[in-house]
Amino acid sequence: MKIISVVGARPNFMKVAPILRELKKFSAHQSVLVHTGQHYDARMSDIFFSDLQIPEPDVFLNVGSGSHAKQTADVMSRFEEVMQKEKPDLVIVVGDVNSTLACSVTASKMNTKVAHVEAGLRSFDKTMPEEINRIVTDAISDYLFTTEKSGTDHLLKEGKKPEQIYFTGNVMIDSLVFSKERMSKSTVLSQWQLIPQQYMVVTLHRPSNVDNHDSIEKILRILDVIQQKIPVVFPIHPRSLKMIEKFGYQSKIESMGKLKLTDPIGYIDFLRLMSQAKAVVSDSGGLQEESTYLGIPCLTMRENTERPVTIEVGTNTLVGLDEEKIHACIDQIMNGTYKTGAVPQLWDGKAAERIVSILNKIG
Ligand code: UD1
Repeated sequence: MKIISVVGARPNFMKVAPILRELKKFSAHQSVLVHTGQHYDARMSDIFFSDLQIPEPDVFLNVGSGSHAKQTADVMSRFEEVMQKEKPDLVIVVGDVNSTLACSVTASKMNTKVAHVEAGLRSFDKTMPEEINRIVTDAISDYLFTTEKSGTDHLLKEGKKPEQIYFTGNVMIDSLVFSKERMSKSTVLSQWQLIPQQYMVVTLHRPSNVDNHDSIEKILRILDVIQQKIPVVFPIHPRSLKMIEKFGYQSKIESMGKLKLTDPIGYIDFLRLMSQAKAVVSDSGGLQEESTYLGIPCLTMRENTERPVTIEVGTNTLVGLDEEKIHACIDQIMNGTYKTGAVPQLWDGKAAERIVSILNKIG
């Protein structure tokens, strides 16, 4: 088969890397990598290609930032041209970003089969752009690969046929397992004079948290209390930095002596940072899964999650912006009474192997 795999934004890179590596083992497949350019900064994109050993994209669509409609429309019209030229048998999309939705819809309307990796996740919160991307992508995809049982259940309830759905595990964990040795050699801790288990990591970028004055103010108040107990490292997403500047909170952040604000960091260094942390405080989707695999406590600053297994089996707790709840959890983490988790089923580093073996049978 000729297979186009699509990447666009940061969380896509670690999901596609293991699939590309697996596809390469089969000479019967011709693999084409398309990067939409939704994320374009070196620290949001290029470093992931080198850290994850992803080959240079065959096609770069260079769409950049914009409103949701503009960004999605730009990806669609540019991807349509690629589809016309390449005429693939299958398009693989991963995750839930705007590029996932745009390329799946485009391919489907051109009567090309679509495989969605990380299908069926639902937060049931349509104010999240990702939830809309997930629902639409799953509705038009032909092959659905799920990471946890809830994904399979949602797809069945939405009318997908059982024979389209494959519970194959978590490709994001494949990348983590693949990178473990290099992660252990990262010198990021000594560069920043951090001692294992004696710092926390924070990442925040959801529009509901950072695009809003009141929630940013609340978050900074929470971080201030945490950093008085334990040093905090906060690699900041460009969107969050922009908002902090817009709302005039730089001096507030600078006044927090034990909070270290850094640029976004690469995959290997970030894994090292997370794996040695006392805990992670975040609103990311991926971090809920990676911290569960690593057994690191994760406090998720959201009201809901599309990844319930990280709560039921793993180390994740939803804390929203509830100050009392967050500080109670931080105290549990500090005094060693926070829950310990387990690794969910099939998060074993072999998801891509299972996915490609299914594609081999389909093709
Ligand atoms: C996107 C995804 C989100 C994912 C996140 C990870 C959607 C709807 N959202 O959100 O699911 O969790 O990526 O980062 O697809 N920017 C830069 N440089 C870049 C990329 C973005 O400066 O390389 C800035 C731009 O100002 C841009 C803003 O960040 O407008 C938001 O970027 P965008 O890709 O629209 O959404 P994210 O918030 O990154």
